[in-house]
Amino acid sequence: MAFAIQWTDTAEKYDNDSLLKNCYLQTLSSAKEPDSQENPNLFIEGDNYPVLKLLKNQYKQKVDTIYIDPPYNTGNNFTYSDNFSTSSDRHSAWLSFMNRRLLLARDFLCDSGCIFIAIDQSELYQLKLLCDMIFGEDNFVNDFMWLHGKGKKDTWSRTLQQHTLCYAKNKKYLKAFCEIEKTSWAKTNPDNDSRGNWFSGSISFTEKRSNPNHKNYYSIKSPSGIEWTRQWMVNQEEMKKLLSENKIYFGPAPEYKGVPRVKIFNNEQTEVIPKNIIDCTDSTRKAQKKLDELLGYKDSKTHAFDNPKPVDLIEHLIEITDMKNDALIMDFFAGSGTTFEAVSSLNARDGGKRRCILIQKAEAIQIKSDKKASSPQNPDFQTIADICRARITIVAQKYNSQILMKKLQTPDAFSSDKE
Ligand SMILES: C[S@@+](CC[C@H](N)C(=O)[O-])C[C@H]1O[C@@H](n2cnc3c(N)ncnc32)[C@H](O)[C@@H]1O
Repeated sequence: MAFAIQWTDTAEKYDNDSLLKNCYLQTLSSAKEPDSQENPNLFIEGDNYPVLKLLKNQYKQKVDTIYIDPPYNTGNNFTYSDNFSTSSDRHSAWLSFMNRRLLLARDFLCDSGCIFIAIDQSELYQLKLLCDMIFGEDNFVNDFMWLHGKGKKDTWSRTLQQHTLCYAKNKKYLKAFCEIEKTSWAKTNPDNDSRGNWFSGSISFTEKRSNPNHKNYYSIKSPSGIEWTRQWMVNQEEMKKLLSENKIYFGPAPEYKGVPRVKIFNNEQTEVIPKNIIDCTDSTRKAQKKLDELLGYKDSKTHAFDNPKPVDLIEHLIEITDMKNDALIMDFFAGSGTTFEAVSSLNARDGGKRRCILIQKAEAIQIKSDKKASSPQNPDFQTIADICRARITIVAQKYNSQILMKKLQTPDAFSSDKE
């Protein structure tokens, strides 16, 4: 029996689809003159709920990866508001808000697509149950935990990780995830190979586990003539190459009677199944520093934006999906626009043509008594959408990419511009 999470629903204005008839996305500008041949990246300023509804027909089943980093409902106020609690109920308003948006998100994903949702322990367990209802428990891929710095401490413990729940639209069609790892730990060189130290990895299934009907079921011979017939992890062509490069180890000479294994040298790149603990990226503090520098915040006491995600964290998540390098990526809680920088940087690194759609509402910047979120070089930031636009303009120039800027226009936009 599936567990269903229950909450008291909080209605939203745009539940009523008929109100969308008077809403439209107005093109503001482009960071670079759009090339009519290409579909540029898209930034939309507005509440993601009506915006997603407006985009639905155009992008239904077209998005490969969604990455979102919604408000966590910590009860704090950051540059953005992060409190959905009422005096009697900590979770219902947040669940109502997320339920609407995740139901829409599901429809944007193509069959082979997946969604990553960043969260901390404030709503992790509620979110897992909500997503099980929306995407199906069987489509849960994993929780990719990110070690984000020194940890968030209370009296009893320091929490080192933040969470990233990943769900497939349909696990049957989701490609296996894969991470490229560089070997550095080989300490020995049993056959004095001139290429240096190596360690050996498995390259076959045991005879018992081998499938004689598999296309990779064949025989190879060791230098001493011992024949090994089994199912290999590479096809015959690849095996021939490995043998000719002296990369298959059959145990010490002259017997050569060990089970054949593949030699992996230091600095060689190997494809591995990704760990669900991410410890190879920048910390929150480093991400904040880099964003401050990019936006011209020289005074280290003021930050442009609280808790931006590191660019390399989002790059890592996109990379491990091993999706085509022209994938369409969506982030409808764009914040400072980290996802755009991650996609641009990844494209620059591997020559890809990934595109992204970002949505960020014109949330007024929460100004705290000890810090004011306006920069000496960008004194005009009134809203988080302004920060996002400033960042993506700089990033688009750096990477020579195009991003079309749009804004949700609603009949009441002129009376209350700031949401
Ligand atoms: C945790 S932050 C995202 C940070 C982002 N990942 C980054 O690296 O900068 C969440 C963002 O969601 C935005 N947000 C909250 N509700 C929204 C809504 N209804 N529509 C669009 N954006 C929203 C907030 O203004 C905030 O910028």
